[in-house]
Amino acid sequence: MERTLILVKPDGVQRGLAGEIIGRFERRGLKLVGMKFMQISQALAEQHYGVHKERPFYNDLVAYITSGPVVAMVWEGKDAINAARATMGATNPAAAAPGTIRGDLGMEIGRNLVHGSDSPQNGVKEVNLFFNADEIVDWNRGGDKWIKE
Ligand code: RTP
Ligand code: MG
Repeated sequence: MERTLILVKPDGVQRGLAGEIIGRFERRGLKLVGMKFMQISQALAEQHYGVHKERPFYNDLVAYITSGPVVAMVWEGKDAINAARATMGATNPAAAAPGTIRGDLGMEIGRNLVHGSDSPQNGVKEVNLFFNADEIVDWNRGGDKWIKE
């Protein structure tokens, strides 16, 4: 079963949209297996966004993700990475389809509300970066047979 790291970014928390954003993943049928409210440190931000280090927006990106608390979560499911990214919408909210988190709630790429892992390998890497093994909860969801065939 695939896992993705999802962050409600500081703008989502500051705008009071955390519940709205979490609810969309929940309603989709992804299964929540880890969650914490936290402030991302400079060091963690630099590790998390290390792949973007050479990009012109890197400093702004690190400043943005450390600018306030985030909700960090691990969501599990079949093809969870793609399912979550489809629910999030395109990186730039200006181009994101209506019905997606970014398309419904955002205006600009530098305030795009939510992060999701972009590959199964990065999913594992990012989950391990943000969560200890004992912070992941193995539980049975009663309604699973109505979501999974
Ligand atoms: P994320 O990692 O946050 O889930 O977003 P993503 O995969 O859709 O986008 P990615 O290419 O990984 O970029 C990471 C974040 O950097 C900011 N960004 N700004 N100014 C720009 O051109 C630009 N491009 C990307 C966005 O906040 C994006 O989510
Ligand atoms: Mg990304």
